Amino acid sequence: MKKIIIGNFKMNPLSFKGAEDLLKAFDIKTKNTVILCPPYIYLKKGENYILGAQNCFYENEGAYTGEISPKMLKDLGCKYVIIGHSERRNILNETDLEINKKIKVCLLNNLKPVLCIGEKLGEDRKEVLKKQLKEDLKGVKDKNIIIAYEPVWAIGTGKTPTSDDILDSFNFIKKIIPESKVLYGGSVNSKNIQEIIQITDGVLVGGASVNKNEFLKMIK
Ligand code: PGA
Repeated sequence: MKKIIIGNFKMNPLSFKGAEDLLKAFDIKTKNTVILCPPYIYLKKGENYILGAQNCFYENEGAYTGEISPKMLKDLGCKYVIIGHSERRNILNETDLEINKKIKVCLLNNLKPVLCIGEKLGEDRKEVLKKQLKEDLKGVKDKNIIIAYEPVWAIGTGKTPTSDDILDSFNFIKKIIPESKVLYGGSVNSKNIQEIIQITDGVLVGGASVNKNEFLKMIK
């Protein structure tokens, strides 16, 4: 079955040339669905990958200095938008209410949200997942979206949950939102991707997605 592999470049690379180089290298035919999410300023459509953004604003238009409208993303050819990444929740203090508004405005514009949820170290995993799903998807009718289970303690740390725990979270989320595609994210690399991809609908890759050779191995 076709799996979804999302590359979240985060705030990388630090030059236009570098971004162009990565997007070009990853524009290859593969058996998977590859969604690339570079920073806004590098968004560029490709032949073989699908374009996504890392965030958007929760209004379509108006005087909001520094914000990016989902309509602009749509116009550039984006099909997906990552919403509620833990770095935005924790560093930029994004709330579940804002995340909920962003999901709704994305869907209105025919952009598919990639909702990120996950517990911090020491938190009750299922309690957090249940609460985030409830608040982030409040009043959302079309739940045919992507949900990425990303334990905060696994992001950028080289640590991953056991396969049993990933599968347990996958089943837990599917039970609540059966129409969603459920991915895993957090320290996915070329060595562990196969095992993880077998028990999920795909993966969300951060750090390893801006390492050209590493990510090429993963998407092939
Ligand atoms: P990581 O990040 O792959 O570097 O752990 C995951 C993410 O950005 O969601």
